[in-house]
Amino acid sequence: MSQPLFRTPKGTHDCLPEDQQYMTYIKKAVRHRGRQAGYKRIDTPMYENRAIFERGIGAHTDIVEKELFLVSSKQSDDDAPAFALRPEFTAGICRAYIEHGMQQLPQPVEFYAIGQCFRHDRPQKGRYRQFHQFDFEVIGLKDPSLDAQLIQVLTKILDDLKILPRLTLQINNIGTSESRRALAQALQDYFIGKERHLPELDRARLKSNPMRLLDSKEEDTRVLLKNAPTLAQFIDDESKQYHATVLEYLEMLEIPYVENPLLVRGLDYYNQTVFEFWDQSTGAQNAVGGGGRYDSLIELLGGSPTPGLGAACGIERIIWHMKEAGVQVPNKDQVDIFVAQLGPEAKKTCLKLITDLREMGIHTLGALGEASLKSQMRLADKFQSRYTLLLGKMEVKNGTIIIRDMAAGKQKEIKFKDILPTIKKMLGEQNLDAYTLKDQLGKEVDED
Ligand code: HAM
Repeated sequence: MSQPLFRTPKGTHDCLPEDQQYMTYIKKAVRHRGRQAGYKRIDTPMYENRAIFERGIGAHTDIVEKELFLVSSKQSDDDAPAFALRPEFTAGICRAYIEHGMQQLPQPVEFYAIGQCFRHDRPQKGRYRQFHQFDFEVIGLKDPSLDAQLIQVLTKILDDLKILPRLTLQINNIGTSESRRALAQALQDYFIGKERHLPELDRARLKSNPMRLLDSKEEDTRVLLKNAPTLAQFIDDESKQYHATVLEYLEMLEIPYVENPLLVRGLDYYNQTVFEFWDQSTGAQNAVGGGGRYDSLIELLGGSPTPGLGAACGIERIIWHMKEAGVQVPNKDQVDIFVAQLGPEAKKTCLKLITDLREMGIHTLGALGEASLKSQMRLADKFQSRYTLLLGKMEVKNGTIIIRDMAAGKQKEIKFKDILPTIKKMLGEQNLDAYTLKDQLGKEVDED
């Protein structure tokens, strides 16, 4: 095989047909559970004003500081690109909520989104520069029952996809922004005189975003943190009560969780409830999903104070888990019929036959080249078609056609005029891939 001249950019990958089946299956589960719970689909642009992410996610988070893909248009100054590819959905969806005056709608407004996100991360297993998320947002109302219900929707989806037993739900309450500010100050005070023992990265974080030290992976930092002030010391009573109620509701809904006082999440917009779905074997690394409450974000983006809550899951990580767990997804691309032909008359007849079969909802391929019948049969085998139809000069003359059952290796000759009903019966009406657009009342659209 020759070496390709071009490859996908680092950290990106093609989603080949075999993975599309997983994609479709996952999207279906998301749409189904989303609709059941009243969420509506939203699509926001893949790139936005970069300030939306800088303000929303936080200028001193990894996602913004290191991972934002900046986009410049021809008009803008290349030294300061005006736009960035979305690293996540939340900030863009909140921008849309404000821009379209959705405060006027009955609250909460509940959205879901599915699509690509971009983070200029160091690529490694489960960490890509372009990946897919599905995302849920609940904007405009605050109540612990909403937090529990959102977690329930995610749990249902992960259960539908048969990977829930591989995961644990980790949950914490990080208090209000005031309590976080007090902790940040206390952490900075605590580290006075100890900074030089911190790894360089964490020393910088201590200045810009001290909370990030709490989930540092650096061993030296972890040791120093042993006697450091903790979040729990600064959480206000209201947040404690809120957290207790969320947990009570989760228990009511029979959703197992692990309380994790160290969970802070890597985005600045969160307050109070935060949670993640961790892989039981690797823990925090490569979480399948995460989210939480963001009651100041809409205001930060220029709207009036509006509470919000949401979560997102990484689709590539979910596909990885499904494969590891041996979850099979239906293959909707199977070939039902392969039509082989020989001679100009047969070819003409087959063109019409292929069209008729496809219109009936039968996945049909035809070898319309000039290859021999034998090599056409080999092709049918490679495409793993269930049946092959053979139409040669003799059959055209006799008004017949041969049906070959590929798995059984048996064939029979029938009258050509009987072919459509015969095939329909052999495949079973319920297995046909017939598709008609229906209107709201369930009538076929073209029926009038
Ligand atoms: P996040 O934790 O940054 O949260 O991302 C959610 C999920 O996206 C992760 O758990 C992971 O599965 C997947 N993910 C993140 N980065 C990558 C990557 N580089 N490669 C592959 N998968 C990745 C958010 O994005 C928040 N917007 C969630 C949210 C919604 N909070 C409130 N509303």
